[in-house]
Amino acid sequence: MPKKIIGLYPGSFDPITNGHIDIARRAVKLCDELHVAVVGNPSKKALFSVERRVELLQKTMGRVPGVKISSFNGLLVDYARQLKAQIIFRGLRAVSDFEYEFQMALINRALHPQIEVMFLVPNEKYIFLSSSSIKEVAKFGGKLKGFVPPEIEKALRAAYQPSSLKAKGARP
Ligand code: PNS
Repeated sequence: MPKKIIGLYPGSFDPITNGHIDIARRAVKLCDELHVAVVGNPSKKALFSVERRVELLQKTMGRVPGVKISSFNGLLVDYARQLKAQIIFRGLRAVSDFEYEFQMALINRALHPQIEVMFLVPNEKYIFLSSSSIKEVAKFGGKLKGFVPPEIEKALRAAYQPSSLKAKGARP
């Protein structure tokens, strides 16, 4: 029986954008099972909790055949071993992504020589999208249509409501 191809698409997904969804849809075509996983390590200050990001991924990607949503703590390669994943997928938008991604791929390979890192390029209409720019637009009430699915737009609008910001002790 041919070996099952298991892929892992990790990220902060704070929040997931249409660009991430585009990459996940391309990645799932290349494997039998794709794990879209939220990193739990607090390396960046996130707007949404890990649990909320997993919930939002479930809402937007959970029903795509072959896709499984999860979160992990610690090293990515350890999670890849745990899942028995052979491929780590990452999206590449521009040359500016390359240096960081290249370094990360080589570190991951040094830590786990059997893993392959595959870079996928999103549809050009998403090349400029990033979770941070989306948050900036949402923060100042800008239009989000076409950038994120409606569920994410709703979550962003709620997160940037003055009452939510006050509860978090943040400034609008
Ligand atoms: O969406 P992001 O923030 O660009 O994703 C970065 C991610 C989650 C892929 C990266 O931070 C990661 O793999 N974190 C887990 C810790 C780890 O394995 N670090 C070693 C690789 S440099």
